[in-house]
Amino acid sequence: MDFFSDNNVNIEALRKKAFNYRWATLPEDVIPLTAADPDFPVAKPITDAISDYIKDGYFSYGPPEGIHDFKNAIQNWYRRRYQADVSSDFILPVNSAAFGLFTVAKMLLKAGDNAIIPNPVDFLFRKSIEHAGAEVRTALLDKATACFDLDNLKEFVDANTKAIFICNPNNPLGRSISKEHLNVLIAFASKHDLWIVSDEIWADIDFDHSVTSILSDELIAYPKRIVVSGLSKNFGLASLRIGYVICPNEKTFEELLHESGHLTTAFGLSPLAQAAGIAALNDCEFWLDAFLEHLRKMRQLTLDFLEQSNLFYPVHPNTTYLVFPEFKMPVSNIEMWLNQLKDQARVALVPGGNNWFESASENHVRICYATSEKILNVAFERMLNAPMFRNK
Ligand SMILES: Cc1ncc(COP(=O)(O)O)c(C=O)c1O
Repeated sequence: MDFFSDNNVNIEALRKKAFNYRWATLPEDVIPLTAADPDFPVAKPITDAISDYIKDGYFSYGPPEGIHDFKNAIQNWYRRRYQADVSSDFILPVNSAAFGLFTVAKMLLKAGDNAIIPNPVDFLFRKSIEHAGAEVRTALLDKATACFDLDNLKEFVDANTKAIFICNPNNPLGRSISKEHLNVLIAFASKHDLWIVSDEIWADIDFDHSVTSILSDELIAYPKRIVVSGLSKNFGLASLRIGYVICPNEKTFEELLHESGHLTTAFGLSPLAQAAGIAALNDCEFWLDAFLEHLRKMRQLTLDFLEQSNLFYPVHPNTTYLVFPEFKMPVSNIEMWLNQLKDQARVALVPGGNNWFESASENHVRICYATSEKILNVAFERMLNAPMFRNK
């Protein structure tokens, strides 16, 4: 069974359900290679687990600290796949990785503090730090390696610097951070007594086993490490909003639980979503393997398209289902360029720029290729034939 064939993309369902710049928000003939959300239905054990959960008709409150079996599944996932000796007792399931980032930022930072984030990176780091009332300091990455320049990084630290946020693998660059660089970052954080917050939501979309979790036993031990992750990217479960935070010890876990608002019942991850999460992590690795195999082919098609277009500098993504090429010629107004693309080619992409991925993302576009071969080929052909590509 090919889970990722053209026949498996149900456009009718996507037009009803896929929002966030995707099928449900665009004219019918526009192909969205926009938000990082796959066009395929999820693995069957997940829908089975949801059916099973609803069968007896009970939808009672869940435990504020999360369902034990889900926390265990995350612990096993991290132990098995990332050689990280995490404890389920210190894992907090939360309502999305986005909420996890906001809650961690609120726990670690207060007004007057500051935190360092990479540039470029997804906008959630800035939003969560600013929401906590703290200052964001952006440090440039080498776009080919997703690594910081250490000399540059030192300049950002003062007495009020409390944390460094990393995105591993990096959205939008599609690059993982090397083990060596993670060790350098741990040494840096240790020297300046900083928390390291590692967003690892993309870790499982890894084409050459290049991803090392910040919690890996292979890295230098350091107590102030927190992982934020979720199941939107690896298992396509964005609408169930399944996120989690891995804390280093009981004290941090208790602080996070308090900060999360779960104890008030105002916030928390639904037990139905956690049932789906258990099935995903315990029973769906076969599906993830097949997804990666499909994505490998789609990545090559995308790289071939970029080369053929002759519009962009080359990129070398080794993770995620994103590419983030830079235009060879400056584009004065990226939003206008993308609107024109939508008119001429009926394809939608995500712009680079300050509002999306910080300042170093100007003059880039982001393409998500988590769709079928046929849809991707149609999108690329339309773009290559559009006057703005042909008459460049
Ligand atoms: C790096 C990164 N972190 C967090 C998120 C948000 O994940 P969630 O759907 O769990 O809120 C995304 C989604 O695109 C992401 O790319």
